[in-house]
Amino acid sequence: MGKIKILDKEFEKNIPYDHIQEVIKTMASKIYEDYKDSRPLFLCVLNGAFMFAADLFKHYPGHCEISFIKLSSYAGAQTTGQVKTLIGLDKEIEGTNIIILEDIVDTGITINHLVEDLSAYKPESVRVATLLLKPAALCKEVRLDYVGIEIPNDFIVGYGLDYNGFGRNYKDIYKITEH
Ligand code: PRP
Repeated sequence: MGKIKILDKEFEKNIPYDHIQEVIKTMASKIYEDYKDSRPLFLCVLNGAFMFAADLFKHYPGHCEISFIKLSSYAGAQTTGQVKTLIGLDKEIEGTNIIILEDIVDTGITINHLVEDLSAYKPESVRVATLLLKPAALCKEVRLDYVGIEIPNDFIVGYGLDYNGFGRNYKDIYKITEH
């Protein structure tokens, strides 16, 4: 499926599933090299990161845990600039090595807000792993420890990412063709 239409917008295939899987396998190995002597807690940021987290977790060979939080800041294709916590932490993280899993860092507003918030709970360490990064859109200073693929500033959907709630179910990533 080279082209898809979601609501009023058209998208074309941009990053195929097989490439996404290779990138994730490589990232899982790098994370394992850094954490093999500890038992990290992967913290998946819902909704967008659910597919990335599931695939990365399957490829991580060491002892680890996973938990989920739900944040939201986008309405349609635009950030609102306000990060809402819709579901928060469900466990004690003091003294824990945390690896945040994000599908995408765009403006950096979400990750900046989250890293700041988490520090109040006194984790041992916090690192960030993102499948996608839009360097041209970044407007916050953020430390990204593991970055899968750098992409241009196009609106994308698929592999967990949505347009107004739709399109998360495609296994490939698609970029918008009309502006
Ligand atoms: C998306 C994505 C990141 C964030 C990145 O989440 O999953 O969390 O935006 O954008 P930023 O760097 O500009 O903050 P969204 O708020 O759309 O919620 P969702 O994950 O439920 O789609």
